[in-house]
Amino acid sequence: MQEIAEVQKRFKNKLEKIKNPSELERIKIEFLGKKGVVNKLFKSLINIPLEKRKELGGKLNNLKRKIEKEIQEKEKTLKSRKDSSFLDITLPGKKISKGTLHLVSLATEEIIEIFKPLGFIRMSYPEVEWEHYSFEALNMPKGHPARDDFETFFVKSPSHPKWGKMILSPHTSSGQVREMLRVKKPPIRMINIAKCYRPNWDTTHVPMFHQFEGLCIDRDINLTHLIGTIDYFVKSFFGKNRKIRLRPFHFQFTEPSFEFDVSCSVCGGKGYVIENGEKKKCKVCKSGWLELGGAGMVHPNVLKAGGIDPKLYSGWAFGIGIERSYMMREGLKIDDIRVLYNGDLRFLKQF
Ligand code: FA5
Repeated sequence: MQEIAEVQKRFKNKLEKIKNPSELERIKIEFLGKKGVVNKLFKSLINIPLEKRKELGGKLNNLKRKIEKEIQEKEKTLKSRKDSSFLDITLPGKKISKGTLHLVSLATEEIIEIFKPLGFIRMSYPEVEWEHYSFEALNMPKGHPARDDFETFFVKSPSHPKWGKMILSPHTSSGQVREMLRVKKPPIRMINIAKCYRPNWDTTHVPMFHQFEGLCIDRDINLTHLIGTIDYFVKSFFGKNRKIRLRPFHFQFTEPSFEFDVSCSVCGGKGYVIENGEKKKCKVCKSGWLELGGAGMVHPNVLKAGGIDPKLYSGWAFGIGIERSYMMREGLKIDDIRVLYNGDLRFLKQF
């Protein structure tokens, strides 16, 4: 009985001094382990006369339960302690997770590198823009129906007497006249990369997206230079085997104008996919082709708005979506553009 009381006192003293989980583990082994103090006492019962053994056995069981309970409670207190004043160097360290550039930023870097050897310099014109640069300077005067195609977000702010309202830029073409005014005298070779905004949300549209705008102005610039440059980009970014197709189109700020499509990477340009043995229309392109951008020869009125004489100089421009380009990369099979922005790390970490 005396020994039991002593063990209990010794345990209590030791427990009071415990400051961290590894010290607690040590006294747990000391008292409750196979070769621990309590088990030794149980083994010594064999030397006790039978009539006393039962009573002592009961006391020992009580002691064991008490020690177990107090250890559990101490464990809880240690875990819940927020201001731990000890440093347990035996615990594994916390991993610092490293971020990476977003896929769209990586694609942007790649696009800049593709255009560098052609002498195009990167610009980044405002994403909150004056109406003037997005429309009037681009041959779309106030009230012109072509402005509706861009479904603009207006900013609640005072209007500028010359440049009109502030808007979230719906396209990077607003950088065309800004660049002409900055450079003043051609040659101009610019790639303007910026965020654009439109109220769209489906498998191939997001409300905030990036465009890159190519602008080339010099003497004797013609459409073949434009088509060659688009072809060069497509081959560099998507690979040699991908095809493009041009479709006549109308933009107020280019003449002639066209839109261009790339063969769809999701269905391999077939326009359908086989799902569970069934032929289904490709939900991304529906036809084997997906629109990448618009382009054309810069309209003389736009050159004039930028202070450039259209009798001396000619130029072309194109505007391409970066997210759209990324989703069309060979082998990725991204069948919904929105996955680029839903913040799902399981998707983003694959690349
Ligand atoms: C334009 O924005 C014209 N400014 C392009 C242009 C530039 C024409 C220079 C002539 C000369 P469009 O609205 O078609 O055109 O958009 C061009 C590309 O931007 C689209 O083909 C697509 O790749 C991308 N895009 C447009 N809207 C969205 C959207 N909501 N989400 C993702 N990408 C988009």
